[in-house]
Amino acid sequence: MTSINRDALIAAARAARDQAYAPYSRFHVGAAVLTANGDIIPGCNIENAAYPSTMCAERVALHNAYAHGARHIIALAVIADTPGPVSPCGGCRQVMAELCPGAVIFLANTAGVWVETSLPQLLPGAFDPNDLPS
Ligand code: THU
Repeated sequence: MTSINRDALIAAARAARDQAYAPYSRFHVGAAVLTANGDIIPGCNIENAAYPSTMCAERVALHNAYAHGARHIIALAVIADTPGPVSPCGGCRQVMAELCPGAVIFLANTAGVWVETSLPQLLPGAFDPNDLPS
């Protein structure tokens, strides 16, 4: 069983943030996910001149992990330069509910403040695959 090195995961998210492509908002976000086999996979926000085509850091990290074949995500960290720990957007919370429902979630800021949370806390009553007809 892979153990969670919180500081390493937040450090990876911080490093991923350096790759953010955010020329419009200038709000740089980094994320990193820890897979069951111990891999740490990064993501950063990637904006687009057609603004709705922007992708958040958390989703880039999760999609990156899935694209690498990971299907069991143990933990996810996200970091930005916010007054307190960054708050994931609603769309990312929904994607987390699909792709890493049991993950430990670390929300951090660049000043070193972090909190540990979970999907049930971030998105209580999430619509999930079990809500679809069989
Ligand atoms: N952003 C993220 O990457 N994650 C979030 O949870 C909130 C917002 C990005 C999207 C956009 O590039 C910028 O932050 C401003 O909204």
